[in-house]
Amino acid sequence: MKILITGGAGFVGSSLAIALKNNYPDYQIFALDNLKRRGSELNLSRLKKAGVEFVHGDIRNKEDFDALPAVDTVIEASAEPSVLAGLDGTPDYLINTNLFGTVNCLNYALKHKAAFIFLSTSRVYPIKTLESLNFVEEETRFALADDQPVPGASSRGIAEDFPLDGPRSLYGTTKLASELLIQEYNEFYNLKTVINRCGVITGPWQMGKVDQGVMVLWVAKHYFQQQLGYFGYGGTGKQIRDMLHVADLYRLIDWQLHNLDKVDGQILNAGGGLESSASLQELTEICQKVTGHTIPIKAVAETRTADIRLYVTDNTRVTELTGWKPEIGIRQIVEEIAEWLKENEADLGPILR
Ligand SMILES: NC(=O)c1ccc[n+]([C@@H]2O[C@H](COP(=O)([O-])OP(=O)(O)OC[C@H]3O[C@@H](n4cnc5c(N)ncnc54)[C@H](O)[C@@H]3O)[C@@H](O)[C@H]2O)c1
Repeated sequence: MKILITGGAGFVGSSLAIALKNNYPDYQIFALDNLKRRGSELNLSRLKKAGVEFVHGDIRNKEDFDALPAVDTVIEASAEPSVLAGLDGTPDYLINTNLFGTVNCLNYALKHKAAFIFLSTSRVYPIKTLESLNFVEEETRFALADDQPVPGASSRGIAEDFPLDGPRSLYGTTKLASELLIQEYNEFYNLKTVINRCGVITGPWQMGKVDQGVMVLWVAKHYFQQQLGYFGYGGTGKQIRDMLHVADLYRLIDWQLHNLDKVDGQILNAGGGLESSASLQELTEICQKVTGHTIPIKAVAETRTADIRLYVTDNTRVTELTGWKPEIGIRQIVEEIAEWLKENEADLGPILR
């Protein structure tokens, strides 16, 4: 099998590429990336060591696909992945990569009759509707009540039938627009496709920063003994996310890759789920235990643009369809990230400190 992974030097792309090559040494894996993300350059030697072929290219350029060989599957994992991207009034890079670039990837897949696996996001769900849900305020976190005003929301989390009307950030919109096009290519061009709407994905080799990669940011700031802040929602750090270890995501993508007929045309929410969720306050406590460091965390009452109080994935559909469910919990994720920081401190310090 030949596979092209776009964003192949990024966190998710490189993790999938290396795991695939390790598990299927006969497969030929190409990782295409323009190295826009600071830190992706550190993955080049890891890709090379694993036997993944790196292609320096930009999905915004149609011409960059011409030099690529035919493949059986495209895994589209390149993006400007920040929910704040473009909100400052400069959306060009975001739209050209996340939307027009995805179209170039689709056309390349079509040319070679390759299957198409898309990394989408929970950010396709509109902010105001998420914020209008019924919450319960518990001692250390917000939780979703059983009774909710819209379909697709329950105490288990957010499911695929959650309403899609309303603004969601430019990032979420470029992803949703790509999803719509993918569905058209599936229906009218018979392209085999699957869309995974992921919540927070994390693990070692994520170059976490304030606007993207909160879990690594949180562990790194504890590890390097710096400062953090609880922004918004009263400044108490009760906002919740579920966290999916990239190794768990790999198991799902591996299954889809080898069972494409069973997921063809599907849109699936995939995340850590309630079992692997934490509020910032709870995450702080785990980070303190794992790193042995207690750092200053300031409370900022003002809620940040495009922020949401809570997102937890309801994995019911993906589990029913594929049998997959995440296995790695928050504590293990924090331990692995802390270990990775320790082992690679010299390289990671300038990026994550
Ligand atoms: N990490 C998460 O929490 C998360 C959650 C949901 C969805 N996703 C999606 O998963 C995918 C991977 O995200 P990630 O966390 O690995 O982000 P990342 O920033 O680590 O990786 C993305 C890679 O794409 C590359 N890239 C950016 N623009 C490009 C372009 N024009 N041409 C070629 N390469 C380009 C970057 O250099 C980077 O290496 C993205 O599509 C993202 O939207 C991520």
